[in-house]
Amino acid sequence: MNKIQIAPSILSADFSRIGEEVKNITRDGADVIHLDVMDGTFVKNITFGPKFVKDIRSYSSAIFDAHLMIINPWKYIENFAKAGADIITVHYEACQEKLKQTLKDIKSLNVKCGAVINPDTPASAIENVVEECDMILLMSVFPGFGGQKFIPEVLPKIEEIAKMVQKSGKNVDIEIDGGINLENVASVKNAGANVIVAGSTVFNEIDRKAMIEKLRNA
Ligand code: DX5
Ligand code: ZN
Repeated sequence: MNKIQIAPSILSADFSRIGEEVKNITRDGADVIHLDVMDGTFVKNITFGPKFVKDIRSYSSAIFDAHLMIINPWKYIENFAKAGADIITVHYEACQEKLKQTLKDIKSLNVKCGAVINPDTPASAIENVVEECDMILLMSVFPGFGGQKFIPEVLPKIEEIAKMVQKSGKNVDIEIDGGINLENVASVKNAGANVIVAGSTVFNEIDRKAMIEKLRNA
């Protein structure tokens, strides 16, 4: 299995001190900074765009993982690549039949790419793009907000995706996002996830370093 990576979602950080928050969470052991980009249309919330990503880039040497929860994501991939994203993930639900081409377009920008599926989208929806992906992101909440409750029905889907990845023979990370905490992190790892997003679980702690370590070792 690929290396476990802990990916704090800055959605739960204090945006008024975002540079410091990103710097400190990197010092505290984050492997990946998970960037939740929301447009108020694909999801019912609005966060930030490429300028914000560009401005925080110099505060961290961790991997910048841009999770685009926006419609027509292909219009913005170049801007996020230029802003310093190391990997860009796009939703199957936003791309549909354009998913494969969008993934190829991301790769052509020299950035890693990934496909995302919502809790109610079956693994089969992305079977034809596994080979294009550096990462597959499975949502364990409906996207839009941090601090929601983990949907355990996603566990068999992680296993299904892990089998698809194994069959493809490619090295593809499996990322899980939404409601991850110390109670459920071992179960998502056992099912095959290796990139663990955690927003509120990490940022609501005073000792974030200890929490990142606990999530890593659980
Ligand atoms: C939800 C976002 C998640 C969210 C995770 O739309 O994609 O990344 O910030 O936050 P927690 O870990 O609090 O569920
Ligand atoms: Zn996310």
